[in-house]
Formats: sequence, C-alpha cells, structure tokens
Amino acid sequence: MILQDWKTLEILHRNRLEPRAHFEYSYGSSVEKLNGTWQFKYLDSPKRVQEAYYTAEFDDRAWDTIEVPSCWQLKGYGEMHYTDLYYQFPVIPPQVPAENPTGLYRRTFSIDSLDGKSVILRFNGVDSAFHVYINSKFVGYSQGSRMMSEFDVTDVLLEGENQVSISVYQWSDGTYIEDQDMWWLSGIFRDVELVTTDQSALWDIHIETELDADYVNSRLKIDLLYQNIDKHQVRIVLNSPDGEKVLEKMYDLTEAKHLVDELIEAPILWNAESPRLYDLEVSLYQEGQLLESVKEKIGFRRIEIQSGRILLNGKNILFKGVNRHDFNCDSGRTVTSEDMLRDIQLMKQHNINAVRTAHYPNMPEFYRLCDEYGLYVIDEADLECHGFELTHNYKWITDDPAWEDAYVERATRMVARDRNRTSVIMWSFGNESEFGRNFVAMSKMIKMMDETRLTHYESDFSTQVTDVYSTMYSNYEMLENIGKDVDNTKPHVICEYAHAMGNGPGGLIDYQRIFEKYERLHGGFVWEWIDHGIRSYDESGEMFYKYGGDYGDAPHNGNFNMDGLLFPDRTVSPSLTELKKVYEPVAVDIIDAKKGLIQIHNKNVFASTDYMILYVCITSAENEWIVPCEMPIIEAGEKEILTLVYPDITIVSGERYFVTCHVVLQADSIYADRNHHITSSQYELPWFVPVEPISSLCSPKIEENFDELLITGDSFKAVFDKISGQLINYTYKGSRLIEKGPELNFWRAPIDNDMYQIKKWKEKNLHLMTIFNEKFEYTVENDGVEVKNYFIAGIPNQEWYYTGTYTYFITGDGKVDVTISGKPHDPNRMMREMLPRIGVNMNVNQTLDEANWLGLGPGESYSDSKESGLFGIYNHNVDEMWTDYPYPQENGNRSNVDWMILNNQTVSLSLISHNPLNMSVHRYTHEDIEKAQHRNELKARPFLRWNIDYKQNGLGSNSCGPQQRPEHQLKTIHFEFGFTLQGKEKNEVSCRFKEHSI
Ligand code: GAL
Ligand code: MG
Repeated sequence: MILQDWKTLEILHRNRLEPRAHFEYSYGSSVEKLNGTWQFKYLDSPKRVQEAYYTAEFDDRAWDTIEVPSCWQLKGYGEMHYTDLYYQFPVIPPQVPAENPTGLYRRTFSIDSLDGKSVILRFNGVDSAFHVYINSKFVGYSQGSRMMSEFDVTDVLLEGENQVSISVYQWSDGTYIEDQDMWWLSGIFRDVELVTTDQSALWDIHIETELDADYVNSRLKIDLLYQNIDKHQVRIVLNSPDGEKVLEKMYDLTEAKHLVDELIEAPILWNAESPRLYDLEVSLYQEGQLLESVKEKIGFRRIEIQSGRILLNGKNILFKGVNRHDFNCDSGRTVTSEDMLRDIQLMKQHNINAVRTAHYPNMPEFYRLCDEYGLYVIDEADLECHGFELTHNYKWITDDPAWEDAYVERATRMVARDRNRTSVIMWSFGNESEFGRNFVAMSKMIKMMDETRLTHYESDFSTQVTDVYSTMYSNYEMLENIGKDVDNTKPHVICEYAHAMGNGPGGLIDYQRIFEKYERLHGGFVWEWIDHGIRSYDESGEMFYKYGGDYGDAPHNGNFNMDGLLFPDRTVSPSLTELKKVYEPVAVDIIDAKKGLIQIHNKNVFASTDYMILYVCITSAENEWIVPCEMPIIEAGEKEILTLVYPDITIVSGERYFVTCHVVLQADSIYADRNHHITSSQYELPWFVPVEPISSLCSPKIEENFDELLITGDSFKAVFDKISGQLINYTYKGSRLIEKGPELNFWRAPIDNDMYQIKKWKEKNLHLMTIFNEKFEYTVENDGVEVKNYFIAGIPNQEWYYTGTYTYFITGDGKVDVTISGKPHDPNRMMREMLPRIGVNMNVNQTLDEANWLGLGPGESYSDSKESGLFGIYNHNVDEMWTDYPYPQENGNRSNVDWMILNNQTVSLSLISHNPLNMSVHRYTHEDIEKAQHRNELKARPFLRWNIDYKQNGLGSNSCGPQQRPEHQLKTIHFEFGFTLQGKEKNEVSCRFKEHSI
C-alpha cells in the first residue's frame, strides 16, 4: 500500500509526534545515531516502488548502498539542478508530477532490551517527504524538509534485530513552499536518531528567562511536560557561568505538566559580546532514585522593542550580520559539526555578531553554538514560494485557507524546537512568499507559543503583523529615508544587503555609516555567507566549481548562487576581509596627525575595551618604530582621546611615514587565539619631503629604420614601432623585460556586479575600442629622447572618442618615463555609461613573477572596497596576487600604488608612479579571463599581463542591489597619468606588513 500522501495537501503527516524542544540528556535517556551505510534503491517514480520493499524479509542485497546523512544527487543519483525561483514542474498546487524521483532506504539495527523503554525515531531533515516502516509495519509519514520529525516506535520494535525501511520522495506538496534559492537536493540529509527513555521521562521543556523592567533580576520559568508520571519528583539545579550554584530545588510532580517559576537575583546577562551561559539540570526522580537528567545551557537576556528601537537588555543593538545557508561544496546541504563550528568561528573572527538562518531552520547544534559563541540569530521558517511570482498570482497559496495548516505548522515546529535557545532573538516566517492570510495565522501562532521574541518577515511590506520592518537590497537613499521616517515606529533591519557575488560587494562602509547614523536602523545581514559551488575535477585533474547549468539542468540561474563571503571550500574571500574592517568593534581615528591625537571609539554595546590590546607603529619604506601606548579601558559606546608620543625619527626625504594602529585580542578566546587581529587603522604623517630630482645627463643612442626607432644605453635597449607608435621591446642587460609596452585599455573582465552594465557596454561596443596611432614623432634633448605618439581611441560606429598622447622620455640610464593623457570628445553626450577602467597594460617577461609594491595591501582593493587595505611594502608572488574567483573575473587590483617592482632571480623591472595608481599582474589577459567560465579553463600565457590603471570603476553590488555610488563611478573624464619604468639588478626590498606582524 503506497499512500499518495506527498501530494495530498491535507496530509502533512501521519503519526508524527507533537513538535517539541530539542534537548540533550546527561543521564538515563540516550540518543543513538542511525547514520552510516544504508541499502539504497533509486527510482524515477514512486509508482515503481515494489509493495514488498518495506517488509523485514525483503531481499535488498542487490541494492546499492548510500551514506546517511547525504543528498542523493551528490552521491550520483538523480539530477543536480540549481534555480533561484523556478519550480521544475508546472505550477498546479498541490500537484507534483507522478515522475517523482524516489529513494528507498533500508537498514537494520539492534536493540538490547526494551523492558520498560520508550523509543522514538527522530529525523532531523529529510527532503522532501517520506514514509517509514519498521519490521514490516507502517510507522508514519512526514514532510517539511528542514524540520524535525519524530515517531514513537516502541510498539513496533523487537529486542534484537530490527529492520527500518524508508521511502523518500523528491517532490511533495511541501515543495511548493520550499522554493528557496539553492540547489534542489533530496534524501535523508541530516542525522537519523533513536531516542530511548524510560516510560517515565521528560517529553518537553520550555524555558523562559524573564528579566524585569530594569534588567536586574529575572524570573526563571520552566514549563515541563512529563510522560507517565506517578509519585515522581523533579530536581532543578542552576549553576552560574562562574560555576556557582544559584538554585537547587526539588519539586513534587503531581501531574504531567509542571511549571517552575523562580526568582534569580541579579543574574549575569547574556549578549553576543559576552555570551555568558548558565548550566541548567532538570532531573527526574522516583523514590529518591535518579531516573533521567536533561542538561541545558541557558542565558538571561531580554529582547524587546521600546520607542521603536530594538533593545537587548535595555541597549539599542546593531546587527552586523550575515545570511547563512547550510552548505558544503562536496556534500551539499549535509553539513558536519566541523562545518558549523568553522562558520561560527570565522564569523566571530570577522567581527560578525548576527546570523539569519536563511531560509530554514538549521541543525539544533548550530543554535547551541550560537548561544555559546555569541551570535544573535534570526531563525527562519522553512517557507518560500518564490516561483509564484511568475504566475498570475504571487499570493496564490499564501492567501488560500487550504494551505493554512501547511504554513502554520512550519512555524509551530520551528518555534517548539528552538525556543529554548538564547541566541534566537527573532522568528522569521520565511522568505519571498508575498503576504496573505496564512502569514497572519502564522504570526498568531508564533505569538501564542512565544511572547518573548520579535517577529520578522520581509514580505510583510507594511508590517501588518511583524514587529520589525524588514527590507532587502534597499539602496542607500532608501535606507536614509527609512532612517529619517519618524512617523513609522517599527524598527528596521535590512535582512539581505550587499550581495557578495563574485568580486564585491563594494560600498560596505557606506551602508555602515548609514546604519550608525539613524537609531531606527538596526543594521543588517549580508547576502550571503558562502558560495554554493560544487567541487569538481576536469579530465586533467584540475579542480573547479560547478554551478547552475553545468549539469545540463534547465531552467537554471547560472552562478547566481556563487554569492558568498566565503569561497565554496570555506576559504575567506577579499569581501569578508573588507567586511571585518567595516564591522570593527572599535574604531581608531586620527584627530591630529602632527600632535599624535587619536580617538578610540568603542562601538560595542556591552563590552568594554578590556579584552583588547593596542599596538601602534610608524613605518616608512626603510624602517619601523614602535610607539609605546596602551589601550585605555573604554566602556561600551564611549570614546576617548589618546595622545601618541612619537619617537625621535630623522626624516629621510622622499619617504612617506604612516602611523598604523592594530587592535588585537589580549587573551585566548573560544573563537580565536590571543593576538588575533581585530582591526587596524592607519594615517599618514605630514612628514613628506620631496627629493631633489637628479638629472641624468647621459643621453641614449638612437638608430632608426623604416618602421622602428631603437634607443640604447650601456645596459638597455628600447624599441618603438613607428607605425603603431608602441614601445614593443625593452631589454635590460640582455633580458627582454617588456614584450609589449603600455597600451591604453578601457575594458575589464566583467565582474558579476557588472551583470546589468555589461549589456549596455556591449551594445555600445565598448569592448571593441581601438587605439589608432595618428602621429609618431621624437625629439632628441640634452639629457634624453622624447617620443610622442598621438592617438585616437574610438569605437566602431560610435561618435564619441578620446584623443590624446603617450609621451615617453628615455634617458641613458635606461629610465623610460611615460605620461598618458586623454581628452573625451562627446558633444552630444552619447556616452553616459560608466567606464570599466582607464589605464594601460603591458606584457612583461613571465619570469618576473615576484612583485614588491608600496601601496595598499596585502589583499586586493577597489575604490569602493578598500577600508581593510593598509599602506605598506608587500612582497607577493603574482600567483598570490590573483584572487581565484570560481567564476573568473577582474580581480587582484592593488590600489594607491606608489611603486611596484617585478623581479626574477637576477633582474627587476621597476615602475614608479607619478601619482598613486591601481595595479594588478596576471598570467592571463582580460579577454582570457572574460572567456573562462570556470577557473580550470584559464591557461597561463607565456607572459605576464601588467595592468596599470589611472582609475577603475568601483565594484558596487548591482548583481542584486545598488550600483556603485556616484563617487565610485568612473565616467568619460579627461585624464593624465604616468610612471617611470626601468630595468635594474634584482632589488632586495625589505618587506613590511606582509603578515601584520606584531
Ligand atoms: C533574495 C533571496 C535570496 C537570494 C538572493 C539573491 O531575493 O531572498 O534567497 O535569492 O535574493 O542571491
Ligand atoms: Mg528566492
């Protein structure tokens, strides 16, 4: 008998137990995992399920085996498919196709003794619906992929060997409300557990800590629900975070329900900055004998809205948050404890204080870690019907009473499971499902089950039922307006912003400034934590990441799910480094550089600066001096001014001097070791004295033929092509260092955030810009040769263009000074678009792959993403200067570069900027990068491509959010920039700041 429950809307389950809290035992009762290898049979439809598959006798030896937990698509069954919002089948709710991939799972397990025991079979996550049988008997049915389902299996179990059979269906009516932007993955993807207790045992526990209005004392309310109670007692023990016993009390249990309500005087409070937890032990006794103990860690805190502000323990809080999906690049939505721990540690190390479990409840363990490490959590119900946006009626099922139960139970099951978690401060009804009656019902249910937390749902656009006004991807102006709007009294969060797709987002700091400016704004959650690329290998064993469309899946949304702050393998991308600086808990700002006055602003809401150390140093290219100082103890929210006493330094002309302030952790903590870098700030000292230019009186030799101009000195040769006007060869002591000289370039390999811009650029053929040499001339001066190339830079069939010159001045010592200037001609304003960049590129000898530079570093930076850069001397191999975006795109730019030297073992090519420039060095041309769609498609060229940019367009976050702010948009401007090139003996440059060594 195969029940068609998966497409019957009214059947949300059969025999599933009432939702309850997830708690852990420390005595008596136990939880055993049924993970491991199961027999497995994959079918393309439940119609192919043989009736007998669930009998104990059924011979499954010919079946395959599969790991539980896992997603079957990542084990070679079914099809990988990624969509943002498209359903894969026609929208005929609640129907799903009969061709519904089905996985049959079987295994045996043994039970020693059942005497007086009660056994529950628990599923933490099965996508999307399933029937369970034990020992040939029907146990039950459940759906709701990312929620806990439990069945009482006591009566069907046998002592000794037991057989469990499960059929899992990929599609169910539940799929209509599980249309989140992610891979479609199926199967038993989270732990399966057997929970064994005595007949008399705790069934449910609901803990509330109710801080009084002045945030000093608290009630501790513990609502207990026991099974089979008769003359039992319950003992409650509460130990403070410091191990002090605060409560120890025995109560008689007269009925199944028992409410403990005690006053806890002046408890130590929990907050994300100082996540102090109490140990609670709830034990069941009978006639003085201990039967069972349950252990919980709980925090005392109060979350509320007062006068339109979100307060935690009475303080206005600001979310520095991220959106996190369960993801692992090898196992999909099956994540390990290590993955969760690594995520949380990385968040804490990067100054993040909040996480939204987008878009479904995570494993219970995740929330325990958030309690312990200190993160504010928006717990989101497993509910999204985004695909309906493409039908005639987005509200279709959201407003249909027939779907009410299906909606409401997604809240009930989440709240029941997670309401003992201190870190959870908001319940979210789900995501992108429009608004309608079923959300009103859901809201009522949530408030009934838990009055102590706030509610969130972005698509309740007019905050009809939610406590918090939430928007996503709002641009800066909108946020300013929301901040200023005093008539609306609900506090605001931006539940998704700063789309971190590919290279970007830019403009993080601008968001932060707005959040900090208006009290009504409580910050937000960056979209998103991690790229969803699937680790794969090509024929030659090269690793790359697959995304939508790479499996022949259609319709798909390409690489739109590669939008994280972490790369798919959890390595940190430059955007997370930038976010860390923007989310800094303490800001050190210069007030008066000359006098050494700095201001330290403790941006924490609760913690003082007592856990921080301040290191200040002055650096020049040649030296480093420590400035003795100490971090003052500054209370949360306060500012203090500190006077730095600079050491006596003899100023060397031509040198720039910077003061750098590093703040680090004073002692080991659970998320990082002592000396962990928290933030840095930097300012320049007004000590720069220019060097008198030394004129080189030695003029080079000149030779000329029909189409070439040859300029030579003792150690070098420079060759110009008189027709193209280009420098085509620069050779130093026999090594050809430059293979193609500076050539004007306006294009960049598009970044994901250029997504919408690129269409406009290509329509205008911007990528086909050509530089025409109009005139080539040279003049011999006393101390060198001046070469001039007049160009027109234009585009096929476009009436706007640039004219300008490359001016070279070559001296006998081999210096080639280059100035490039350009003037736009566009009287009819035909080119209003942004330009990708204005700069030149050169091809240089591929052996010159060790770079030194003086400029911002160590990582990449762009005009709207360089808060985390520090000015210094860096030494990187060009491979280290490349950011390996899984979808290749422009990357690796270093900003404000004063000079850069490229070295091989013996010689160097140095470049000194007239004014600070942007630079990157790649093994590929921008055409190569643009063409490649996966990292393994890039093949190194036999030269290095050196990009030297006057300006590059900012990054923005326009792949799903605002464009670059006007000041970071590069327009067709008049430009002039330049630099001096020279071949030299290999330069040993001392390296500062490479590791932020302290
Ligand atoms: C939002 C959505 C997310 C994700 C994001 C774009 O609209 O809530 O799930 O799709 O856009 O990456
Ligand atoms: Mg969506």
